[in-house]
Amino acid sequence: MNQMKKAAPAALVPSETEVAARVEVLLAQMSLEEKVGQLNQVGGAEFAPGPNAENQIRQGTAGSVLWLNDTKRFNELQKIAIEESPSGIPLLFALDVIHGYRTIFPVPLAMASSWDPGVAEKSQAVAAREARAAGLHWTFGPMVDIARDARWGRIVEGAGEDPFLGAAMAAAQVRGFQGNDLSDPERLLACAKHFAGYGASEGGRDYDPVYLSETQLRNIYLPPFEAAVKAGVATFMSAYMDLNDVPASANRLLLRQVLRQEWGFTGFVVSDAFAVGNLLVQGHARDRRDAARRGIKAGVNMDMSSYTYTENLAGLVAEGILSVAEIEEMVRPILALKVKMGLFEHPYVDEGLLAQVVAQPEHRQTSHWAAQRSMVLLKNEGGLLPLKKDMKKVAVIGPLADSREATEGSWMVFGHKPAAVTVLQGIRARLPDAQVTYAPGPEIQRDIPSWFESAMAGTTRKPTQTPDEAEAAFQNAIETARAADLAVMVLGESAEMAGEAASRASLDLPGRQEELLKAIAALGRPVVLVLLNGRPLSVNWAAEHIPAILEAWEPGTEGGHAVADILFGDVNPGGKLPVSFPRKGSHAPLYYARNLTHSPEGSPMYNPRYWDGLPVPLYPFGYGLSYTTFEFSNLEVSAPQVKVGSSVNVSLDVTNTGSLAGDEVVQLYIHQRWGSDSRPMRELKGFERVTLQPGETKRITLRLGPDELGYWSTNAGGWIQEAATFDIWVGADSLATLHAELEVVG
Ligand code: NOJ
Repeated sequence: MNQMKKAAPAALVPSETEVAARVEVLLAQMSLEEKVGQLNQVGGAEFAPGPNAENQIRQGTAGSVLWLNDTKRFNELQKIAIEESPSGIPLLFALDVIHGYRTIFPVPLAMASSWDPGVAEKSQAVAAREARAAGLHWTFGPMVDIARDARWGRIVEGAGEDPFLGAAMAAAQVRGFQGNDLSDPERLLACAKHFAGYGASEGGRDYDPVYLSETQLRNIYLPPFEAAVKAGVATFMSAYMDLNDVPASANRLLLRQVLRQEWGFTGFVVSDAFAVGNLLVQGHARDRRDAARRGIKAGVNMDMSSYTYTENLAGLVAEGILSVAEIEEMVRPILALKVKMGLFEHPYVDEGLLAQVVAQPEHRQTSHWAAQRSMVLLKNEGGLLPLKKDMKKVAVIGPLADSREATEGSWMVFGHKPAAVTVLQGIRARLPDAQVTYAPGPEIQRDIPSWFESAMAGTTRKPTQTPDEAEAAFQNAIETARAADLAVMVLGESAEMAGEAASRASLDLPGRQEELLKAIAALGRPVVLVLLNGRPLSVNWAAEHIPAILEAWEPGTEGGHAVADILFGDVNPGGKLPVSFPRKGSHAPLYYARNLTHSPEGSPMYNPRYWDGLPVPLYPFGYGLSYTTFEFSNLEVSAPQVKVGSSVNVSLDVTNTGSLAGDEVVQLYIHQRWGSDSRPMRELKGFERVTLQPGETKRITLRLGPDELGYWSTNAGGWIQEAATFDIWVGADSLATLHAELEVVG
């Protein structure tokens, strides 16, 4: 580290007044075309439609570049912007750095499974350091959409179903990407996306319309965005879809009223890709000119690559439909961020820096640690896990067992080549003296290939096995398992099965994986199932018949080592599910924080919710096992009765009652028994992940105040906190039973 070339030193942090003054000086020298240019984000990739990026930069009609991941080219383009464009304003280089740049971290859904905001913060800090060393300035993350429908492919990019956990993860990621000082040359600008409601697309179908009441928006979908604003997020991305029949990228309620007026956001908003132009497709804008006008009126500062602004804004100003002041209002926060980042002083990147930065062992270590903390033990019957390290013959089976792509998962940085340690490699490294055999079995494919993958990577995965070869692979997997003492089956979804444009109707294991699992289980050898996937899967058969199941998600660069650490007991798993696991795809959306209507859960009248299966999740929200056991006791609420507006402490003892050190996530849920509106039967309002030695007890205190006890009420038409009785539960998951009451009085 000492030998390392240093990134450019941080500039002296200018005050807000100094930044504003500098922005005015810049604006005064810029033509209208250049001002509009700052609102234009050009595509640097070959697949990106639109005018030539370099020409636009030269003319000063580009403020930012995306879909380019080439350090040398960044410098070349920056030089053109600075030396050849009229006002020499540096470009912002932007890309989706969602869970790592070169060192890949667990996917965000997995990071949320750690229930440790520190995992998200540290991981994104490393991602920022690497991406910045490559020449990027700005990431399109964190994705903070609440997702209650596991069919939606993009569930993998967020923190799951819960607003409280989601808000904690949103803020942590913003801190990780941005740090405390935007001029820090090891940080990136963050972008909270997709504002707002994208995760609630009808039927879980990506890009489909969303209908959410204001109550749902305010209580469930907006809190992570507000948390991002409070954490100082520099930018927002407006979503594609219609929200209650108004496109999110022309939505004044969201972008003007909520974001700017209510939350006081001072950064800038970029549309999602082509979303301003797409206002035509959505039947909102009459033509591209009208789309540009609507984008500005709604407060979309930057047009991501639809070129609607550069084509139309100057004309709209000339005709008096928009004013220069309106354009300048949109430009100011973009210039201000460029000033705050110190881009005018340090526009270029040292082309030798990235190699040194990614070589820092700490980066892989952080990824390894994050993966360990993100995995969730779903089942461990008869204490099959941890496995003994003196095993002689282990078969590692499944199409994902040696897949680098599936181990790194969805949303690779543009142009990235997966280099993860696979589960097979991790197990081999752990058992140098054992015979570790491998058989992939039949490959798995999407029924409909990913257009998204083909656009970004230029290829789509094609079947490589004929049906006969797949059958031979199936039989070979069985024979490989038969010859071993134990089979580790690595099943789930390939990387392109979750993410953008990757929704599914079914949540079953795709392809012949379950059939293979059954055939191998029938051999009578112990079977451990390791899941690599980007969404909850309805692994009902496995949950009943396979003794040990580890949810590893898409764990990143060090994923295979982290799986081996857990399987062989070097690490005791402590992750918890940030989403409910439905028993069927058709049960989605499914989430724990439902309102109780008609008949209570557990009563005979509850089950007829469906006559063809239990409506309750296979694994509930917050669930996860450990190799040790925990007990919760001595629950105490600091006051049995409090006034509206004041806070109480909820304290309890958690004890490690087993013989191994381990982590437990203490979770606090509340329920307001009556009030202006019906309230969910449980809502997460506090959590803390703790490490306990065998026999150790820790007293945990979680606070409940007006923010936790209040809600946005349909009947009251606003935020309220009411006098009512509250149930409080604490425990290890959303079915926690340790109970207390709290009386809130007026
Ligand atoms: C579209 C996606 O919806 C968004 O999440 C992403 O940031 C942009 N494309 C840019 O790649």
